[in-house]
Amino acid sequence: MTHVLHRTIGHNYPTAVSGKGIVIRDGTGKDYIDASGGAAVSCLGHSHPDVLAAMRAQLDHLEYAHTSFFTTQAAEELADDLVAHAPAGLGHVFYVSGGSEAIEAALKLARQYFVEIGQPERKYLIARRQSYHGITAGALAVGGRAWQRKAFAPLLIETHHVSPVYEYREKLAGETPKAYGERLARELEDKINALGGGNVIAFIAEPVVGATMGAVPAVPGYFKRVREICDRHGILLILDEVMCGMGRTGTLHACEQDGVSPDLMAIAKGLGGGFAPIGALLLQDKIFKALADGSGSFQHSHTYTGHPLACAAALAVQRVIRRDNLLANVREQGARLSRRLNERFGNHPFVGDVRGRGLFQGIEIVADRGTKEPFDPARKIHARIKTEAMARGLMVYPMGGTVDSMRGDHVLLAPPFILDAAAVDTIVERLGEAVDAAVGA
Ligand SMILES: Cc1ncc(COP(=O)(O)O)c(C=O)c1O
Repeated sequence: MTHVLHRTIGHNYPTAVSGKGIVIRDGTGKDYIDASGGAAVSCLGHSHPDVLAAMRAQLDHLEYAHTSFFTTQAAEELADDLVAHAPAGLGHVFYVSGGSEAIEAALKLARQYFVEIGQPERKYLIARRQSYHGITAGALAVGGRAWQRKAFAPLLIETHHVSPVYEYREKLAGETPKAYGERLARELEDKINALGGGNVIAFIAEPVVGATMGAVPAVPGYFKRVREICDRHGILLILDEVMCGMGRTGTLHACEQDGVSPDLMAIAKGLGGGFAPIGALLLQDKIFKALADGSGSFQHSHTYTGHPLACAAALAVQRVIRRDNLLANVREQGARLSRRLNERFGNHPFVGDVRGRGLFQGIEIVADRGTKEPFDPARKIHARIKTEAMARGLMVYPMGGTVDSMRGDHVLLAPPFILDAAAVDTIVERLGEAVDAAVGA
């Protein structure tokens, strides 16, 4: 009998005992190809020797020093590294221990910025339906999954939501992707006008929506229009790159492919690659200056902010990615993965869409390709796919509620950047079998 409050009570989780490269081994000796990096975390796979060596070296010197007393070389070097490769103007880094904490920090820093510059009347946050921004109270409040917020609604701050970019289902027949993006941008501006432009703090969005929708990118031009609208109303643009960032889509930051630079950018998962819990918030110089010229500090901190072991691990991860030119592999194997998925599922009776960027790909499961009708949620197709995949030694990240937070199923793939062509083929082969078994094809 376990004393751990596991994610699903009563579920019999295998015990992970070791990992090497793209494989995790359980206590019975069974191997699983980690085709989702857990939840888009393990970008270098498991037990990468260079990262482990950097972590050991850090531990040999110092395991921890509280940031109210000291800075550390690891924290300084990682910040230098992140800023050197960040989108224009993101000149400072605030460290946290994960994605939700990065979002909490973003929301509070956005609010504090307006207090510092004499606009305390700004109090509204706008986000998108079907997004996931984390599980802590602030992150949950901006998140777009209605059912997940429901039980906690009395505890959550007021937020407002607009439509996600969901080309597969919501682009109208005859509408070009560009016109669709324009329509969504107008919806955002209408929402801003309804709330009063001077009352809004920020708009927050994932450039490529991950867990809740299965690797759904924006249409071309959408984020540029969003950036213009935010600028026109003096609203901050917060991009949540917790899942899609740090190389996952083939560029270090997903927003590079959308041609925009945010005011605040949250990163986590691939930053430390799972070697240590770490996240970060990158902030524009104007926000840093407002604090520096104003109260002099961000009214927000955690005990483990800038943990030296986590910073050393993340720095090593980022250096390996650059040294080994792994983003080129993300693009190359990402293209192969997309091709293979389309070959396997392009005419599958129960797969309606294949989408994504780089090594961040998703398939949407439907009961009927023609009508795009999803399966009855009671059938829990996503959970079945996960079980069938695990039985075949494959880790993927399926989720339900794709369409409207209740209906729909998808499978997210986010394999390590180190995988090769043969591994891509094996992943798609095993996934195909798992999907067929789950839907009874
Ligand atoms: C886009 C996005 N934001 C925030 C989070 C929250 O991160 P964490 O689970 O590390 O708190 C996640 C986690 O999946 C995410 O995908």
